[in-house]
Amino acid sequence: MSTASKAKDLKTEVAELAATARSAHELMSQMVKLLQERMLKYNWVGFYMLENPPGQPPMLVLGAFQGAMTPHTRIPLHQGICGAAASTGKTVVVDDVSLDPRYLACSLETKSEIVVPIFVRGKVAGELDIDSHFPAAFKEEDRELVEYCANLVGQRLPAIPDGK
Ligand code: SME
Repeated sequence: MSTASKAKDLKTEVAELAATARSAHELMSQMVKLLQERMLKYNWVGFYMLENPPGQPPMLVLGAFQGAMTPHTRIPLHQGICGAAASTGKTVVVDDVSLDPRYLACSLETKSEIVVPIFVRGKVAGELDIDSHFPAAFKEEDRELVEYCANLVGQRLPAIPDGK
């Protein structure tokens, strides 16, 4: 099966998860598992959620994930590919992480990465981060799938209070 048709099937499955999950937390746990199991080049799949406590710098905090434990459980917005995606509100695709000076290494095997912001009513609330052991693993159909997943999660998360 081509990556494009696999991605199309998975969209249907994640939409079903979103319809049946009892909470955003449950949806994110099930989603990382499904994506990592079914997309063979998605070797590490995880969420970082944006925490913004008053008087402290905003921080991306590791949430549900599948794959090896990462040393990066808390990432400030000015660091990493994760920080770049959250601070710009734009999807970042890196075909060769060894050439990107922003990259924070999670595993020596990682060759490429995609990070997609999650929005709740127009504000970044977190992001979906996927690492691959294969160079340039994330094509247009992957970007569409991961953005679709991030959007489903954004629809389930509570609104971010004003002032944050
Ligand atoms: N590579 C990310 C850090 C997170 S780990 O990949 C899980 C980055 O550069 O922000």
